Amino acid sequence: MSIDGIHEKFPALRQTVNGRRLVYLDSAATSMRPREVLDAIGGFYSRDGANPHRGLYDMAQRSTEVYDGARAAMAGFIGADAEEMVFTRNASESLNIIAYCLAPELLKNGGNIVIPISEHHSNLVPWQVFAKRYGAELRYMYVDRETGELPDAELLKIDGETKIVAFAHVSNVLGNLLPAETLVSAAKDVGALTVLDAAQSVPHFKLDMRALGVDFAAFSGHKMYGPMGIGALYGRRKLLETMPPFLFGGDMIEDVREQETDFLPPPSRFEAGTQNAGGAVGIAAAAAFIEKIGFDAIEKREKALLRRLVAGLNSLKNVTVIGNRDENAERYGVVPFNIRGVHPHDAATILNEYGIAVRAGKHCAHPLLTYLGAEFNACCRASLGVYNTEEDVDKLLEAIPEVRRRMNLGD
Ligand SMILES: Cc1ncc(COP(=O)(O)O)c(C=O)c1O
Repeated sequence: MSIDGIHEKFPALRQTVNGRRLVYLDSAATSMRPREVLDAIGGFYSRDGANPHRGLYDMAQRSTEVYDGARAAMAGFIGADAEEMVFTRNASESLNIIAYCLAPELLKNGGNIVIPISEHHSNLVPWQVFAKRYGAELRYMYVDRETGELPDAELLKIDGETKIVAFAHVSNVLGNLLPAETLVSAAKDVGALTVLDAAQSVPHFKLDMRALGVDFAAFSGHKMYGPMGIGALYGRRKLLETMPPFLFGGDMIEDVREQETDFLPPPSRFEAGTQNAGGAVGIAAAAAFIEKIGFDAIEKREKALLRRLVAGLNSLKNVTVIGNRDENAERYGVVPFNIRGVHPHDAATILNEYGIAVRAGKHCAHPLLTYLGAEFNACCRASLGVYNTEEDVDKLLEAIPEVRRRMNLGD
């Protein structure tokens, strides 16, 4: 499937905002869904929508096949086995399950958890809460403010007392790639477990859990052209098998007696209650959509647009790209920036008048924004998806100078 003209497949992108064509530059918050995904979800509910894993009639059998098929497809998409793919609500829930299930055993004698300062709250707050609860230490690795990269010295925070190293593959604010291989190897050297937050990498390049060698990973369907309300938790089979369930209920038990329960093995053990089968169908359809375009084409298109965007922002007066300003630096999906003297919320509100959707604020990464010391401790963020075009980037670059003019701050 050609990436050219692919935006035509996204019904939500056809709208106008304030009389102008919508320029959607907020895919890192949530990406829009192509017709294929919407049809797959609608098709499931209009044809197969019985409760999976429970009924013996045809419709229920079909639901079971469709749900299990979606799991197998998603496992294949990330280079994992089906038993290692747990469906959750979103990346946040996946990260919380990991923390809830691991922390009691892993942190009972203290120790430390190491994370980069650039983490999204979903991969920070659970570790902060559990570190406090069990008397462990939460240690931060401080990224370079200019590049977002982790200086080698920061890796030394991972030591013999480290139990968990958790990190985002791609920062949702800075857009740079963290060195998964190096972090996994440093963690393995000291016997610590690794947790990969892949929420911002899964739509942009191929993930392979075996090659990455991480113990756990988390991502959301709605950031990869799938529906909201479905996410994934990957866990190495051996580890998932040792973990106690987090929620209890239907379809996660082998047998229940009056005083005892035997739980099913993973992944069902972590999916209590009626599953989000429509969501599973949707996320699998989104993965198939991505595969039909191909990550080579996605990376090529997005890299070219990111270069154009960073170069364009650098050329504008009173605009600062946050983090790495080099247009040729490796980055994925997002470009954070500020317009001098303008609060990012004002900037985003004015840009909306031009039909342009960007995110503004602290991006669920308060510690990072404080650490970066950006004006107002906040920033605007333009983020890209497969449907964005050079015209979208240019529309943003044309509208930005209007923001200061509209605020009577001059050019
Ligand atoms: C890096 C990262 N991790 C986790 C999340 C949380 O995703 P969700 O809100 O789908 O749980 C986000 C969402 O923005 C994110 O960017």
